[in-house]
Amino acid sequence: MKSLKIRQATVADVVPLSGLIRRTIRVSNSKDYDQKSIDMLCAIFESEPVAGRIENELILLCFMGTELVGTVGLRDNYLRSMFVDRGYQGRGLGKMLVSKIEEEARQRAIPEMMLHSSLTAREFYLALGYEFVELQTYPEGPFVLMRKPLE
Ligand SMILES: CC(C)(COP(=O)(O)OP(=O)(O)OC[C@H]1O[C@@H](n2cnc3c(N)ncnc32)[C@H](O)[C@@H]1OP(=O)(O)O)[C@@H](O)C(=O)NCCC(=O)NCCS
Repeated sequence: MKSLKIRQATVADVVPLSGLIRRTIRVSNSKDYDQKSIDMLCAIFESEPVAGRIENELILLCFMGTELVGTVGLRDNYLRSMFVDRGYQGRGLGKMLVSKIEEEARQRAIPEMMLHSSLTAREFYLALGYEFVELQTYPEGPFVLMRKPLE
């Protein structure tokens, strides 16, 4: 069985990380967003902006063996960039990554986690205790602002 490993991203991870995110957007989010939105979302996660994110926020990577299969980020009190490769979804990896980032937020004395959920991930976050705040509209499409107090 392949071993599961979680570690912080470095600039050396830019290309596979950008690839994982853009692949997952195209495969998993296209049922909820039109092609224009998908293209705009993929542009946000090209290598260059991803490199900027790695420098400016905490980004965790999840590996199955040597394969990058999931990621999540934390910037201030916002959980960001949560993606699990389509072939590994539904196995608890997303839940585990959220739990790790919440743990990190608690250590930073962040009282409440916020996030902008895709329409695709809304039920996932509800299952993890996040509550609906409001639906917001961006050029890339609609996203759901959600919150969860951290004890
Ligand atoms: C959303 C996403 C990160 C979830 O990751 P995952 O590894 O598939 O989720 P998990 O297997 O850890 O699921 C955790 C819980 O959420 C529930 N859940 C996950 N997706 C769900 C869905 N679409 N509808 C209802 N429940 C869902 C699971 O049943 C599980 O519940 P349990 O703990 O009671 O068993 C992943 O599906 C993904 O990358 N989606 C596409 C990209 C995306 O939209 N990312 C979010 C950007 S804001």
